[in-house]
Amino acid sequence: MVNGVLKGKVALVTGAAQGIGLASARAFAEEGAAVGLLDLNLAAAEAEAAAIKAAGGQAMACYCDVRNDDAIQQVVAAVGNAFGPVTVGMCNAATLTQTASVVDLPLEDWNQALSVNLTGVFLTAKYLIPQMLSAGEGSIIITASQMARVATPLRGAYCATKGALLQLAKVIALEHAEDNIRANTLSPGGVATDRLAQQFGDLERAEQEWGPAHPVGRLGQPAEIARAAVYLASDDAQFMTGSDLLIDGGYAAR
Ligand SMILES: NC(=O)c1ccc[n+]([C@@H]2O[C@H](COP(=O)([O-])OP(=O)(O)OC[C@H]3O[C@@H](n4cnc5c(N)ncnc54)[C@H](O)[C@@H]3O)[C@@H](O)[C@H]2O)c1
Repeated sequence: MVNGVLKGKVALVTGAAQGIGLASARAFAEEGAAVGLLDLNLAAAEAEAAAIKAAGGQAMACYCDVRNDDAIQQVVAAVGNAFGPVTVGMCNAATLTQTASVVDLPLEDWNQALSVNLTGVFLTAKYLIPQMLSAGEGSIIITASQMARVATPLRGAYCATKGALLQLAKVIALEHAEDNIRANTLSPGGVATDRLAQQFGDLERAEQEWGPAHPVGRLGQPAEIARAAVYLASDDAQFMTGSDLLIDGGYAAR
């Protein structure tokens, strides 16, 4: 355990098999939380859950497609049954969207982005909040993006879904402020994950081509975002709700 700031909490992370979700699930466990890791990639989520357990933590991995109403409901219930009511929910899964103008982007791609990035978060929050109400506390962390604020050509579906998440978090925050349930977005800048490797060809190219767009001159690392997620999950963030935590190497400052 690092500092134990999440001792006694039960966390659930979607998109936990790799990248920012995996780093956050790992950091939550290191800080003492029991963690449910949800992803389409069950094998990778299981490998991380096994590593957490081998290190003395509590974890379970579940196959889950966040677009599927019944599946997300069942899996959220399963994590609650295993560890007790979920008190930290990180809605983090997002799909890869092709780079194309609004004119060229197929409707199918637009709908896919909306269903995973936006509806998936809505469904995850929808089924997490009742458990948080029963626990008398909760922190919903929605992974948005610096692109929620800064528009980027050819990224219409991504920017639109991420921008919408900022508003969704604020609505949840207002609906549950008196229930001791907080909701915030966490907005990374470019972070060296498989997502960028896919987008740029490989991570080295991503660093070369996109690192300089960040005033600090480099991409972020998943662990740097995970530390911010730990803060939002912890009682240190009791006064933070309905807000967006931007961890972007200065990208949006320009
Ligand atoms: N990496 C970046 O530069 C960056 C920047 C800003 C915001 N973000 C956001 O951070 C979050 C994580 O990004 P990442 O780079 O770690 O992503 P990633 O693409 O590396 O990992 C995403 C994970 O989500 C899972 N997933 C995809 N669709 C799913 C579905 N329908 N149901 C369940 N799981 C599903 C994938 O299997 C994968 O494990 C995303 O919301 C992304 O938009 C990333």
